[in-house]
Amino acid sequence: MNFAWIKKIFASPARYATFAAVACILLMTPTLPGQSQTTSSTKSNAVTNSVLTPPPLLLGTAWYPEQWPESRWNADLDLMQKAGIRFVRIGEFAWSSLEPAEGDYHLGWLERAIDDAGRHGIYSVVGTPTAAPPAWLTQKYPETLRMEENGRKAEHGNRQQFNWDDPKYRELAHDIAGRMAQRYGHNPYVIGWQIDNEYAAVSFDPRTRADFQSWLQHRYGTLDNLNTRWTTAYWSQTYSNWDQVPIETSRGNPGLLLSWKRFVSDTWRSYQKNQLDAIRQYASPRQFITTNMMGWFQGYNHYVVARDLDLASWDDYIGEGHLNAYVNGSTDDLTRGFKQKNFWVMETQPGHVNWAPDNNDLNKGEVRAMAWHNVGHGADAVSYWQWRSALNGQEQYHGTLVGPDGTPVPLYTEVAQIGREFTKAGPTLAGTSPKSQVAILHTYGSVWAIDWQRHNKAYDPIVELLSYYQPLRDISQSIDIVQPTVPLDQYKLVVAPGLNVLSNEAANNLIQYVKNGGHLVLGQRSGMKNDDNGLQPERQPGPLVSLLGGRVEQYYALIDPAPIHGQFGDNTSKLWAELLSTSSPDTQVLATYGKSNGWLDGKPAIITRKIGKGSITYVGVWMDEAGMAKLAQWMTNMSGVTPAFGPVPAGVEVDPRYGKDHTVFILVNLANGTQTVPLPRSMQDVLHGGSVQSVNLPRYGVAVLSEAKK
Ligand code: GAL
Repeated sequence: MNFAWIKKIFASPARYATFAAVACILLMTPTLPGQSQTTSSTKSNAVTNSVLTPPPLLLGTAWYPEQWPESRWNADLDLMQKAGIRFVRIGEFAWSSLEPAEGDYHLGWLERAIDDAGRHGIYSVVGTPTAAPPAWLTQKYPETLRMEENGRKAEHGNRQQFNWDDPKYRELAHDIAGRMAQRYGHNPYVIGWQIDNEYAAVSFDPRTRADFQSWLQHRYGTLDNLNTRWTTAYWSQTYSNWDQVPIETSRGNPGLLLSWKRFVSDTWRSYQKNQLDAIRQYASPRQFITTNMMGWFQGYNHYVVARDLDLASWDDYIGEGHLNAYVNGSTDDLTRGFKQKNFWVMETQPGHVNWAPDNNDLNKGEVRAMAWHNVGHGADAVSYWQWRSALNGQEQYHGTLVGPDGTPVPLYTEVAQIGREFTKAGPTLAGTSPKSQVAILHTYGSVWAIDWQRHNKAYDPIVELLSYYQPLRDISQSIDIVQPTVPLDQYKLVVAPGLNVLSNEAANNLIQYVKNGGHLVLGQRSGMKNDDNGLQPERQPGPLVSLLGGRVEQYYALIDPAPIHGQFGDNTSKLWAELLSTSSPDTQVLATYGKSNGWLDGKPAIITRKIGKGSITYVGVWMDEAGMAKLAQWMTNMSGVTPAFGPVPAGVEVDPRYGKDHTVFILVNLANGTQTVPLPRSMQDVLHGGSVQSVNLPRYGVAVLSEAKK
């Protein structure tokens, strides 16, 4: 067959190639009796395994075809295809277009959009539209609107107005998710599902309160138990009936606060499970299910919500400012820890956002640097929000890849470069993922508990965690952020910057880790609380006191930094200082306080104890960058942590990803000028080809290097 006429219509060879491939597949497929060649089931039959296997590294964008005439779609898809975009996130927020009136389903347009995208070599991640219920729905079923904490009902006109705990809303959400799964769940171009969008707004209506009370009953069994664990004799808080328990979100009893957050997390999980089950009932198991999370957002426990998902993903927005490799990289690492495997960046900013105080653009080259930085930390997909602004709607000023006229904005060419590079490097990155010799422990309970009672207003538990992350990352060049209950034996060093709420399960896991030869370092405020946010009667670090052979005698919120000296030179502790003591002759003092408030003067600030081949250390201070760098050096030396790659100039980030028989190193230069990086050994330059001994990286320059495992 001569395709010359088609080549003329399909101006670019790439577009032609995709069209030809799909056409061949369709032509080669026998038509079954009773089937028309244009139905989607015929197409499914026609699809070969190669169509069902998406590329290992994917560039994507959020596309809202419902906002545009269908006649425009091909032009958009052509431009996406030219930029190397391999998936669209589609359908989220489109409920009023999918079901304009109750029971009146219009699912065909989305199927056409998915198929049109597929013909351009672009896969789809279908979003359930439940973050934006239509007006008819909330009008007819007003109980589906959530109630704000001040008792006001949310209204239509924005999004997230739904009530996540309402049975009617769940029924309607289940229905639309199930119908979508029935329709698109075997479409070969649909690779996955995103449930809802950025869970955040909860409801404070009377039913939610009653459900919270039932949840408490389930957790505590008896009121006596709850009263004891929450010490409700305090301020006469004793409950004699479950329905007396209120919702408190910031100034309530600490046990109540933590329970509410746990209830919120479980309720998001069950909200999600409702849709997940509807999708799973119909969709092919090859389609993953995820939801887009928000990094360090503290609204719920992400480990709990991620449990039922196939894959974790997050929305990576810098907002105001520029890419900070530590802040952003730690958020990637946090997200990777939700499922302890590679993740997706489901949304990121094409240049700028519209919601920061100052919505500056990322510099030329920075968007590409950021995409590779994400991949370095374990992202297997990076997706830009959004393709094109709706002409009206709340986000007109947000960054896009094409303008309101539908032609590319300046950033488009940079994104197209990422597209080419992802295609090239994808096969080398397939099957690789980061792993580290160092774990930083993190729990939501601890962060919440410190945040509710900071005791020093500047004490931000995430900032404290990052003060460990940064110098440790510089040395080890890879960090895992995980919960304290996961298996830890693979790590040479485990650091818990602020493990304030320490469950018995976590404590036993840590004790076992140290006894097995692991090196555990606890930071300020660790082990202060039990699993009900009550004080540990042994004082800090609670159940780890006897292993440490020492404890915290007192904590002090500081107005003036407290001087310290010892193993890490002369430094100060800012914001907070803990006076330590030793109770065992083999517990060593590594640093002591200088003259301060009198109480601290001359007293231990950092103590450590060897336990067989392992050790446990308690750091009662929070030093400045130089001090934390020395501490990180000491921790990595004593635990035998080695750099993944080797020395690199300041400002160059190294990200290792390990495969079965090879390792990939991604290097990103975020320093101001060009940096030359000598490689520890010669490696393959994946983007440019050939074997190299060193690489020259301009500002925002990227190198992807591969070496076989010895
Ligand atoms: C995200 C949201 C998107 C879009 C984006 C703009 O939080 O999921 O729908 O609003 O922000 O930055």
